[in-house]
Amino acid sequence: MTRFRKTSPFQTYTRDYIHFVTILVFLVSFNAQTVSAQGAGGYVYKQFQNPVRDRLIHGLFSSNFTWGVATSAYQIEGAWNEDQRGETIWDTFSHEPGRIVDNANGDIACNSYHKIDEDVALLKELQVKHYRFSIAWSRILPDGTLNKINQAGIVYYRRLINALVEAEIEPVVTLFHWDLPQALQDIGGWSNEILTVYFKNYAELCFLEYGDWVKRWITFNEPSIFAKAGHEHGVHAPGLKHQGTTVYRVAHTIIKAHAKVWHTYDNKYRASQKGQVGITLVSSWAQPSTKWQVDIMAAERYLQFEFGWFAHPLMVNGDYPSVMKTQILEKSIGQGLSSSRLPSFTEEEKVLLRGTVDFLGVNYYTTKLISAWRSDAWPPGYEEDQDLKAWHDESWPKSGASWQKCVPWGFRLLLNWVKHEYGNPPIYVTETGVAEKLNDQDEPKLKDVWRVQYFVSHINELLKAYKLDGVNVQGFSAWTLMDNFEWQDGYSTRFGLYHVDFKSPARTRTAKSSAKKYNEIVTGNGFPVPVSKLRYIPQFKPDMAFGAAPRAPMVPVFHDNDEGIQPEFR
Ligand code: BGC
Repeated sequence: MTRFRKTSPFQTYTRDYIHFVTILVFLVSFNAQTVSAQGAGGYVYKQFQNPVRDRLIHGLFSSNFTWGVATSAYQIEGAWNEDQRGETIWDTFSHEPGRIVDNANGDIACNSYHKIDEDVALLKELQVKHYRFSIAWSRILPDGTLNKINQAGIVYYRRLINALVEAEIEPVVTLFHWDLPQALQDIGGWSNEILTVYFKNYAELCFLEYGDWVKRWITFNEPSIFAKAGHEHGVHAPGLKHQGTTVYRVAHTIIKAHAKVWHTYDNKYRASQKGQVGITLVSSWAQPSTKWQVDIMAAERYLQFEFGWFAHPLMVNGDYPSVMKTQILEKSIGQGLSSSRLPSFTEEEKVLLRGTVDFLGVNYYTTKLISAWRSDAWPPGYEEDQDLKAWHDESWPKSGASWQKCVPWGFRLLLNWVKHEYGNPPIYVTETGVAEKLNDQDEPKLKDVWRVQYFVSHINELLKAYKLDGVNVQGFSAWTLMDNFEWQDGYSTRFGLYHVDFKSPARTRTAKSSAKKYNEIVTGNGFPVPVSKLRYIPQFKPDMAFGAAPRAPMVPVFHDNDEGIQPEFR
């Protein structure tokens, strides 16, 4: 006879309770896992749901905040074959017909090699505290190595630095802004690990020659763009299209080269020269297109692939973000490869990499909407490795470049993400600016109200990041001092505060309205007047659709001028 045990009410209660607790524990731990997979991106996304963020605020930056403008050697110097300067990959690339709009090149550019005094006069007019420029490696080491030191090149930068110091403008030097000596590309470029040694030698020469005056060194400018545009998409020098492979190898060498230079400075020069060594990274802000976990996680993946790619090894643990490692390994195995296309660091290398950023340079230009998306493209490249889609909301204000829509609030969110992801490091915004389409034949648009709006709204978001969110931001550089060679767009796209007349041999520089506005912001150290008196009051457009997000973040639109409410001049 089967005896049925009767369950007492107490036992039933206990069993249900245990079930309930088990399910609860499962849910909490599942949620914790997804919340941590959402990372800093998910946190920042959720924290900034409130559209109040789009109002302008007034207030000042700290008294030691440093204001400046930025340029880069190949984009402004010209004199490509003068005084024994060695050729660079950008000379080679731009001299190949069909690479650059109108087959333009940087042979003369703004002719800054011959215009130190004129350029410094513009900086004085702007009343900036620093000038961020880059040294052309091949101007001082024509073949990239110590085989030959070119005195003419050494003297040129010494003259520039002296002129700046005399004008009480701090020189901030980028060592590599994409113009690799061609001789080093000929031995494989950044895919070749020997470049860590050559880059260290070049950097050390700069420390020896200029370190008494230069106290802020930036090793690399936007290595992610250099690696992708030059080695994956082939639209920048050296023009390679190696899907999903070279891009990671190039970055790998660059990361090691950065750390080598930092240690060299730390061991041999820091004590006497008392400067700092940082790196400039860039990312669009990645805004999840919906509130779904998968999209929030995809947006975090985007940030890790773009920014964490370099910042994680150098600032966190000496290694790539784990999401990059798992994604690329999975895709590589799926391709039938025996190991990941993403190279790995040895344990000794990891120790050398981490903690090698004294300050972080951050560049920001735009924001993207992100959704999770399984890519089946073959073979997988850098984009496919991420399993996501990235696009612009069509309603966001356009600029003169198809890749840039103007999204000021994304700037604040990116800065907050950096703060949370990397423990609030000292940040210098080393670039932001807005593109405008202009050809040589066109009349210069000196009343660039859209650029005035761009800088007012973006610097105001920076102020919020500093004052309201506690982001440790210590300086800002506008991109860029003057119109210059805009890479594959040649001179058809302009970012300058000063217009440059490329038709005239004098390369005459003329201030645009944005130069005057920037000077006002610089001398006011921010926005000293109360909000009601600010000239550009943003209005919310309540009908602004924003992906599938239920709460629509707004885009500020400036109403008290009748020109260019939204800059659209492509
Ligand atoms: C680069 C600059 C460039 C600017 C506008 C940045 O990515 O550092 O050299 O001119 O963007 O495209």
